Amino acid sequence: MREKGIFISFEGPDGAGKTSVLQIILQRLKPIFGENLLITREPGGADNPIAEQIRNLVLSSNYSDIDLRTEVLLFAAARRQHLVQTIIPALENGKLVISDRYVDSSVAYQGGGREIGVQKVLDVNQFATEGILPDKTIYFNIRPEIGIQRINSTRTNEINRLDTDTIDFHKRVNKTYLELADDNKRRYEIVNAEANLEKVVEETWQLVKKIIDI
Ligand code: TMP
Repeated sequence: MREKGIFISFEGPDGAGKTSVLQIILQRLKPIFGENLLITREPGGADNPIAEQIRNLVLSSNYSDIDLRTEVLLFAAARRQHLVQTIIPALENGKLVISDRYVDSSVAYQGGGREIGVQKVLDVNQFATEGILPDKTIYFNIRPEIGIQRINSTRTNEINRLDTDTIDFHKRVNKTYLELADDNKRRYEIVNAEANLEKVVEETWQLVKKIIDI
C-alpha cells in the first residue's frame, strides 16, 4: 500500500526547539492546506486517546523505575495506535502529515541513549509500523549541552522524565541521531538548530516548501 499524502517527521534532541518551530510552520501551512493538514506528535497523537494515555504513562516522572524494554514497548505501542488510527487515515485522504517525532526517536533515545541497541529497537518498531517510514525527516541539529541548557533556562511547560537524564545519555542520543542521518541520507534533511528561532524557522520553511513542492 502507498498512501497518497505526504508524511514528514520532525526529529531532534530535547531543547532543539522543533516543537516551537512546528507551531510557526503550522500557521503558514494552514491557509494553504486547510483541512488537508495534520500536525501530530509522539508519543501520543492528535485525536488519539489511547496513544495519549500511553504518553502520560511513559513520560511521567512518577515511574523512574520503568524497565528499559517496557519503555521501548510502550513507545512502540503508542506509535502503532497513532499510525493506524491517525497517520494512515490522513495519508489515505491525501493530507500532509507532520509528526513531531516518530520511529527515529525510539532508535536514538532507547537504542542509543538507553543503550538497548539500535537493531533491537528497529526490530520492535518494524513490527509496530510494518516498515512505514516518513517520506522526509527534518532533523534539528543541536549539541546536547546547548539543548539541555535551553531546557533548563527557557522551558515553562512540563519537564518530562527523559529531560532529566544525564548529559551522557543525551550525548548518546545525539550520536545515534547523527548516525541515522548518515545512514538515511535521502530521507534526512538537517537544520542548524543552534541558530536563533527566526533563522531556524526560515531554514525549516524552505525545506518544507521544497518537500511539498510549493
Ligand atoms: P517531547 O514531547 O518534548 O518531544 O518529549 C517526548 C520525550 O520522549 C522526549 O524526551 C523524547 C522521548 N521519546 C523517546 O524516548 N522515545 C520515543 O520513541 C519518543 C517518540 C519520544
